[in-house]
Amino acid sequence: MDQFTYQHGEAHCEDVALKTIAKEIGTPCYVYSKASLSGQVKKLKDAFSAYPTLLCYAVKANSNLSVLKEIFQDGMGADIVSLGELERSLKAGVKPTEVVYSGVGKREDEILRALDVGIYSFNVESKAELENLARLAKQRGKIAPISLRINPNIDAKTNPKIATGLFSTKFGLVESEAMELVLFAQNNPNLELKGVGCHIGSQITDLKPMAEAVERMVAFARRIIADGHKLEFIDMGGGLGIVYDKEIPPSIDQYAEILISAVKPLGLRLLIEPGRWVVGNAGILLCTVLATKKTPKKSFVIVDGAMNDLVRPAMYDSFHAIQPVLLSEGIEGIHDVVGPVCETGDIFGSDRSLPAMNAGDLLYLRSAGAYGSTMASNYNSRTKPAEVMVEGAQFKTVRRREKLEDLWRDEEL
Ligand SMILES: Cc1ncc(COP(=O)(O)O)c(C=O)c1O
Repeated sequence: MDQFTYQHGEAHCEDVALKTIAKEIGTPCYVYSKASLSGQVKKLKDAFSAYPTLLCYAVKANSNLSVLKEIFQDGMGADIVSLGELERSLKAGVKPTEVVYSGVGKREDEILRALDVGIYSFNVESKAELENLARLAKQRGKIAPISLRINPNIDAKTNPKIATGLFSTKFGLVESEAMELVLFAQNNPNLELKGVGCHIGSQITDLKPMAEAVERMVAFARRIIADGHKLEFIDMGGGLGIVYDKEIPPSIDQYAEILISAVKPLGLRLLIEPGRWVVGNAGILLCTVLATKKTPKKSFVIVDGAMNDLVRPAMYDSFHAIQPVLLSEGIEGIHDVVGPVCETGDIFGSDRSLPAMNAGDLLYLRSAGAYGSTMASNYNSRTKPAEVMVEGAQFKTVRRREKLEDLWRDEEL
């Protein structure tokens, strides 16, 4: 259920008026709905309940400690890509045995820490990484659990910047190379091959590439097993898309059905790494209008949020619905909603239909829960926004707005 609704003409998150949050916390500010988060996790768990599946939340989508705590409490593990994500996840209560470590480049200190806490699997993406892992596991007197990430050369039919399953990208292993690594792992006492997997991209709204990818992983797993090796799981990564605009993504049940029906005959455990699907529509970015202006070509609404707070529109040309916090009877106009950053590309939305806006009015960008705050930067020496979690009629700050001093805290004069 959508937790961002209008009540008596005023936008709310659950039962809290966004206006109240703006007044008490200020803007720009990310606002998350706890009910939306836990609702998504429940839907995931229900969809995969018929088959042994480890649900590992992709921490990169939103790594706020309170968001993580909620997700882990609700029963998910974690898919991490850095030491920072590992430490955050541990702090937020993840079970180490439910952590998988993805990513095309892992540092020694990162690998050692993950070995020490005993994660479930390292998703290996190159021979060099596997050799490094074997050496470090030996050094620690441990056996590193591994999964081989395959690049299946499948077009996920998504934005090229988030398509990761093609040979033109840096991700994964070609199958023939992966087959060599199976032997390498088999012959190394400090490695244990547990899984194979892939992640073909993000914001996928067409199930066909996903179906093709899972068939390929099942076929590859069969080859490994036929060669006399043991396997425990197949990891299908993340990628399930959400509605930002007019997309019609598959339902979670359709997605689960495709994956489960392909993996079930092998009897291997299934693992998935959803990020966007869990948090994307559980958050918004709340902004205040600073000014309006017109050129002979355009009408601009300038807000206090910018590309440093939410970079997706500037980086991927992605769409976020933009809505006024107070519904008005005023005449709609066509405006570009832009931020104050000194880049022409600092545009949240072009040619949007909005009621007349004045300085001080509030508006919000929907579907900003995933790849929003985690991609925020200090560009233009702007402090990162506050983050707020709403639960029913209550809300609390889960990340305070950065202070000016934070900007130069670690610098020298
Ligand atoms: C390896 C891996 N797993 C999972 C994800 C999460 O993807 P999504 O947020 O689309 O579910 C990503 C995102 O890029 C990824 O690289």
